[in-house]
Amino acid sequence: GPKRGVMQRFTNQLQPRASSFKVAVLGAAGGIGQPLALLIKMSPLVSAVHLYDIANVKGVAADLSHCNTPSQVLDFTGPSELPNCLKGVDVVVIPAGVPRKPGMTRDDLFNINANIVKTLVEAVADNCPDAFIHIISNPVNSTVPIAAEVLKQKGVYDPKKLFGVTTLDVVRANTFVAHKKNLKLIDVDVPVIGGHAGITILPLLSKTRPSTAFTDEEVEELTVRIQNGGTEVVEAKAGAGSATLSMAYAAARFVESSLRALDGDGDVYECCFIQSELTELPFFASRIKLGKNGVEAVISADLQGLTQYEEKALEALKPELKASIEKGVAFAQKQP
Ligand code: NAD
Ligand code: LMR
Repeated sequence: GPKRGVMQRFTNQLQPRASSFKVAVLGAAGGIGQPLALLIKMSPLVSAVHLYDIANVKGVAADLSHCNTPSQVLDFTGPSELPNCLKGVDVVVIPAGVPRKPGMTRDDLFNINANIVKTLVEAVADNCPDAFIHIISNPVNSTVPIAAEVLKQKGVYDPKKLFGVTTLDVVRANTFVAHKKNLKLIDVDVPVIGGHAGITILPLLSKTRPSTAFTDEEVEELTVRIQNGGTEVVEAKAGAGSATLSMAYAAARFVESSLRALDGDGDVYECCFIQSELTELPFFASRIKLGKNGVEAVISADLQGLTQYEEKALEALKPELKASIEKGVAFAQKQP
């Protein structure tokens, strides 16, 4: 009745602005998608989690929906339900696609994952063109340029809202550095720039906070371990896939940062792979400030005062990263 309507409006006004964001996960029944959906379901900033996959998503959603956190869980299966999954969402996270097996590079996933990302981003363009788009599917160095081209073709590209998720590289760098130098994990922050594959992953150890001194041997050892973190997990899983739990953790952190920025927090910084003018390459991972409209500032100071080791590594990564970007662009442009 009318009385209840008044109460309802009153209650809505009392609700904090937080807890009102909707997040979609595309590939939600997968190794990353499931734990990521769980972590998003635990966020107080989220009012609804939309789970999409081509199969097996009903069970995941039923299971997750029994957690007594406030957010609603909705499931969407197959392309016919994708538009409704996307309508009205603030953030779309895309971990859909095949993972590596031992002996493979991330680029070996291109043929399958390029098409998956292209199709999903077309739907994003049609149904939630204003959403932040977080691309996890590999090879990130190519799938982000593909997504950008698709959005351009649809006339809705906003470079400030398209992100390749490289948070896992930062998470690994923070963990490995803290262990090596006996620092408190929670304090350590290492910016990681470039891209997300092999030598294109460049941790800037000289910019570690709190300020930390490394020997040349430590720099070499830590850099190589951070660059090979993904391969370390692929080999340990021995054919059963790649990083899923640490990736879900990292992706949840990037989602939470995005939602805090959307909620008006003025102090949100993350590293990610974006369209960039920081170097001569059209896409580049670096530390950015996140705001309501996406990328608010690129922290160019991180690239000043690099060590000789970092300068050399930066020059060395550019040809590979450039080729991966161009491969993605060419793929998207030759499609009808
Ligand atoms: P997975 O095989 O366990 O899960 C992938 C899911 O995607 C499956 O549930 C599958 O059904 C779904 N899928 C396939 N095609 C789809 C489509 N067209 N639409 C919607 N969903 C679709 O793989 P995973 O371990 O979760 O890894 C997923 C991707 O993430 C891989 O490409 C992997 O290389 C990448 N990855 C990236 C990072 C990073 O740091 N950016 C880290 C780890 C993994
Ligand atoms: C990672 O860094 O763990 C991911 O990119 C998955 C992979 O293939 O290594």
